[in-house]
Amino acid sequence: MTHIILRDLEIPNIKDLKVYMEHGGYEGLKKALKMAPADVIQMVKDSGLRGRGGAGFPTGVKWSFIPKDPGVKYIAVNADESEPGTFKDRQILENNPHQTLEGALIAAYAVQATAIYVYFRGEFWDVAHAFDQVIEDARKKGFIGTNILKSKWDCEVYTHLGAGAYICGEETALLESLEGKRGNPRIRPPFPALVGLYNKPTVINNVETLANVPFILYKGVEEYRKFGTSDSAGTKVFSVSGHVANPGNYEFPFGGETTFRHIIEAAGGVPSGLPVKAILPAGASGAILPATDELLDTPITYDSLKPWNSAVGSASVIILDESVDMVWAASKMIHFFAHESCGQCTPCREGTYWLSRLYERAEDGLLDEKDIIRMDSVASQMKGKCICALGDFAVNPVVATIKHFRADYDLALSPIPSPQPGITDLPASQDDLLEHLTIHRHESGNHHG
Ligand SMILES: Cc1cc2nc3c(=O)[nH]c(=O)nc-3n(C[C@H](O)[C@H](O)[C@H](O)COP(=O)(O)O)c2cc1C
Ligand code: SF4
Repeated sequence: MTHIILRDLEIPNIKDLKVYMEHGGYEGLKKALKMAPADVIQMVKDSGLRGRGGAGFPTGVKWSFIPKDPGVKYIAVNADESEPGTFKDRQILENNPHQTLEGALIAAYAVQATAIYVYFRGEFWDVAHAFDQVIEDARKKGFIGTNILKSKWDCEVYTHLGAGAYICGEETALLESLEGKRGNPRIRPPFPALVGLYNKPTVINNVETLANVPFILYKGVEEYRKFGTSDSAGTKVFSVSGHVANPGNYEFPFGGETTFRHIIEAAGGVPSGLPVKAILPAGASGAILPATDELLDTPITYDSLKPWNSAVGSASVIILDESVDMVWAASKMIHFFAHESCGQCTPCREGTYWLSRLYERAEDGLLDEKDIIRMDSVASQMKGKCICALGDFAVNPVVATIKHFRADYDLALSPIPSPQPGITDLPASQDDLLEHLTIHRHESGNHHG
């Protein structure tokens, strides 16, 4: 198929400005600059483009939330890419960087922003360094700076390196980090569209989302909508890893023939020849799903995984064959989230810590039945009670593996229950906890009434 995003697979050296321009590069920006900003927003709305960073929010709608007054506005490009198993933005930025830059400039013009900040994850220091040159090359052609292509619109572009924290990919933590503060997510409302970077209206978009925009402007909505489905327009880059022969980025249109079975085949199949046991459709933050025929053959769109309480997310597809113990897999995820929790809300900070301790018991061969109930209980007390989505992400692998792969937990049970102080003392469920507190209150004379 024709690639919209991974064009580097077809056009050698498209990362060079000259080659990019020979293949229609910056024509989308030129077209946008001849249009009214509101019409650019309408075009992106009509295209059906949805955010590729995880939540799938309609991009044009997001842009339309920015106030139309003449005040200062910003664009933040989310190049933090820290989701385990996601490595698409890196390929785009390394091999086709002008396309994201052009998309960011079109976004900036559409909302009349005068500065773009590209936030790279700390480990992408080499990519960020190369991107500085990309910016300078674009500036020489008049695409960045003052009175861009004689449009009377000015825009600057800055790069910024994070320090290696997963949470800084969360959009409000990213803004805090850009402002030089600790990357703690903000409580919403207010939303960044009204109170964003330095308290100014800000659009935050993922690298891949923005890389779609030049095509939409240059080729038009109709051409774009030839890819994908009515509610999931365009193509998606799937980062495929785990038990496949050829891990890598694969771009497919949403829906139609794009199923997990198709993706696994495209990535060379499972090297061991064992059946696929589980699929992680969205890296560590989504559920771990059993690889039933129904799941394997479902055309992938933003909404098609809802029956499994799952979503496409950033499309980091991790394939696990029959050799994998799902308690071990969930344990890996929970240790990751416990490490990456920013710690500002109690359910997430304490919940990930306790889940981590409980999975350590499994690793040490000490797991007992009550630990599994405790895992479920801690998870249910975290869900929906945190400032940002990391708290919910952390719960997903736990709940999903207990639900779908209970046999693996049963296998992990210790033959001889061996209590460990501090954990087995904990009531197993919320009801047990209430009972425990009531008894304790009576025993201690209920001094506080
Ligand atoms: C814990 C956490 C980590 C995230 N990490 C990323 C990330 O690395 N890259 C990204 O684009 N979005 C990430 N997101 C989603 C962003 O908050 C935001 O929704 C996204 O950048 C919006 O861009 P889009 O509308 O173009 O998808 C993360 C969200 C959460 C809750
Ligand atoms: S949910 Fe976790 S990561 Fe998100 S703000 Fe709360 S403590 Fe921080």
